[in-house]
Amino acid sequence: MEDDIEYPPGPKDILPYTLERKFLRDPLKTLTDISQTYGDVSHFKFGKQNVYFLNHPNYIEDVLITNYKNFIKSRGLQVSKRLLGLGLLTSEGDYHDKQRRLIQPTFYPKKIKSYIDVMIKKTLNLCDHWKDGSVLDIHKEMTHLTLEIISKTVLGYDIKKEDDEIGDSLLICMEYFNRLLMPFGELIEKIPLLPINKGFQKARKNLDSIVYKMINEHRMQLEKNEKKDNDLLFTLLQSQYDSTGIEKMSDQQLRDEVMTIFLAGHETTANALTWTFYLLSENPAIDLRLQEEVSSIISNKIDISFDDIQKLEYTTKVLTESMRLYPPAWALGRQAINNCKIGKYIIPSGSIILMSQYVMHRNQIYFPQPDVFYPDRWTDEFKKNLPRFSYYPFGGGIRSCVGEPFAWMEAILITAIINRLWKMNSIQENKVILKPLITLRPKYGMRMQITRRD
Ligand code: HEM
Repeated sequence: MEDDIEYPPGPKDILPYTLERKFLRDPLKTLTDISQTYGDVSHFKFGKQNVYFLNHPNYIEDVLITNYKNFIKSRGLQVSKRLLGLGLLTSEGDYHDKQRRLIQPTFYPKKIKSYIDVMIKKTLNLCDHWKDGSVLDIHKEMTHLTLEIISKTVLGYDIKKEDDEIGDSLLICMEYFNRLLMPFGELIEKIPLLPINKGFQKARKNLDSIVYKMINEHRMQLEKNEKKDNDLLFTLLQSQYDSTGIEKMSDQQLRDEVMTIFLAGHETTANALTWTFYLLSENPAIDLRLQEEVSSIISNKIDISFDDIQKLEYTTKVLTESMRLYPPAWALGRQAINNCKIGKYIIPSGSIILMSQYVMHRNQIYFPQPDVFYPDRWTDEFKKNLPRFSYYPFGGGIRSCVGEPFAWMEAILITAIINRLWKMNSIQENKVILKPLITLRPKYGMRMQITRRD
């Protein structure tokens, strides 16, 4: 009986859908306000759904690690199955574990070392097209760069001119999922002829056509015995059937894995880099220190080894601090399978658990002067004293980000190379507004003026 349940404190609507409207307008502020008013665990209703918002590192650890078996991904990710199908991000249980074992080795340190050359080459190619003094949308540039890198390194595919609409298609899909998540949102799908549905279908078709191009190119190479490299797509294709010819992964499952890596493997890192360059442009003293470190380690010929990357300590701190303030994955959701206990509260099965990196990373208990961009806070001592889930840009536990080592290496390399060659200057017309879709993006892009360093 709902009436017998003791709920944690939380906002109660006086008028119907007040909270939902607030969420629609500004989810980051709404969650920040809730956390500041109600503390470590709060409860509210979103439509008919019971939502528990966790704001204590230990409770988050309970969900992501200690009792992870009791939770599946929540509606936020369920709706994205319309694009991702059942890839690594959205699948569950034994199937997920099996696929994770297959995909994880692609991101082991030994393997990602072999991606350095492509990462450097693609970054230098991009910079070659830049003109001194011009104004660029850095978000677009970073999205294009990270897309080229994940496609070439992990999926063995060269992005072509005609693949240009990927960024726009992905944005259409993410905005569509956001609409579906609002109360009554799924009614939209009942009228297929609505322009929003047609827009989504077209965007998905566009993304599908690229993924199928990747798969078909690889299949042909395998048939002709022309396999050049052992990229993830070959690994997936070769494990589609066991030695007796029995299918282990259908064509649809293969497509879903490739689509997931293709999208999850570039958009998040592009956002991390965009926010980093924005913060550097706003903090010249930090930019200067970064430049000093980078030029002491990287010559202007830009030949960087894996060991050099380990030496870029301040660069790493800059990125760590940037992902604290602007975590590309700004919230995680789960759904409880069975009743469970969090703190002193019984959480009924079916409830939604919400955790927000954006809110936790700005909690002043763990991060003094939380709104200040201060890379120097990340000393070894500081890190040692932080509770595990006070900082978790890559999630945690069995569902943590499989691409984390790849993302770190890529982000450090790109930040260092671009900082070595170019200075980013903020311009007055640049309107910086956060747009929290599945990832935390800049709403109007990130226009900056670039000047070549001597
Ligand atoms: C700065 C960059 C990145 C951030 C902040 C990030 C963040 C995250 C987070 C928070 C999760 C956990 C989601 C959850 O628990 O519901 C996740 C999962 C995942 N990420 Fe990333 N990610 C990044 C880069 C990448 C890259 C480069 C790849 C691939 C090359 C990737 C592929 C994935 C996949 C496949 C999953 C699902 C893993 C699973 O459930 O087993 N991510 N990511």
